[in-house]
Amino acid sequence: MRSIRLSRSSLRLNEPLPWDVFDAGGKLLLRRGYRIQMPDQLDQLVVRGAYVADASPPAPSERPPVRPEPARRQVLSDPVGSWARTEARLASLLHAFERTPDFSDRLSELAPLISELCERDADLALFQMMRWNGANYAVAHAIHAATLCELVARRLGWPPHQREQLLRAALSMNIGMRQLQTSLVTQTAPPSAPQREIIHQHPVRGLYLLESAGVTDNDWLRAVALHHEAPDALPTRVRHGSAAQLAEVIRLADIFGAKVSPRASRPALSADQALRETFISHGGADNPLVNALVRELGIYPPGSGVRLASGELGLVMRRGVRADQPLVYALINRKGQFYMEPVIRDSARSQFAVVATVPVERFRQLNLNPALIFGYESRSRMRPFDTLEFEF
Ligand SMILES: [Fe+2]
Repeated sequence: MRSIRLSRSSLRLNEPLPWDVFDAGGKLLLRRGYRIQMPDQLDQLVVRGAYVADASPPAPSERPPVRPEPARRQVLSDPVGSWARTEARLASLLHAFERTPDFSDRLSELAPLISELCERDADLALFQMMRWNGANYAVAHAIHAATLCELVARRLGWPPHQREQLLRAALSMNIGMRQLQTSLVTQTAPPSAPQREIIHQHPVRGLYLLESAGVTDNDWLRAVALHHEAPDALPTRVRHGSAAQLAEVIRLADIFGAKVSPRASRPALSADQALRETFISHGGADNPLVNALVRELGIYPPGSGVRLASGELGLVMRRGVRADQPLVYALINRKGQFYMEPVIRDSARSQFAVVATVPVERFRQLNLNPALIFGYESRSRMRPFDTLEFEF
């Protein structure tokens, strides 16, 4: 079934539903004509994922039926698992690129998958990025940067072939320092002189390594070589789709992604602080790229810790219609106790308005299961925790 995901604004309280509503797996949830009467029920539905059948599928004669390949089918039915598999594929490719004769083709296959996963559920993608636990930094960081690149380029209206080129470069940008990258995250001392030299050389070294691995796309190679150039070192008028523009987007994603990742030497920055710093350091309102990043992520991207007017603490799950009104997964009640069954709060309602951000470290000890939270996995009783690793 071709389906369209419903946003909160498409669903109204106390009005008959104009369509049958399904879950992500195509199971009928609510029949046409049903009236949703409780705001909480509406919130749960949006968070779980509510879909309607596309009312106007193309006639068979206009377009051949789309038969999703296995990877695409998995993206649709199991996006959480697909992210994990994509990350594992990238890890093995980056680990053994010298011994992979078709490295360029195999890395290129990952770009449309990431694009598809972002389209499937960008909130889930951002939630997982902000909740990253610190494992396998080099690969996770490349995936996060590619995700941010995709979201920025999509918001700017780039066509698919340019976004895929951007993602190929983003996924391979740090191939010239992949081992050092992981050790730097666990290191508390500043980089030594030899380490600084590797950092300095890694963009150009990356170009040579990619070339030796069979990459022939000049813009891909040049984007990797340029991805640490300060904007004033790039041409003043950057041509759309040029290697310099790809490098600018990658640099932006690289810097923001690094700020929201924890390191041994410092905790992760909150999303709002990271966005503020990135906005200022990238030319602010004059730079359409950083503007697109800020507009895409909103003030509280999914995965951010927030305090609500109700006194509850939780994690942002989905961006709202307004940047300051996300849906929040409330985990801690007003008395500071963890909910056994977390509740979803719509911060557009004044009693649940976001009043402050909370360091995500406050929630790090919770091993949350995004597949359950986002409704891609169901159990007879909704239980979002795999395990609880804290003491009451
Ligand atoms: Fe880099």
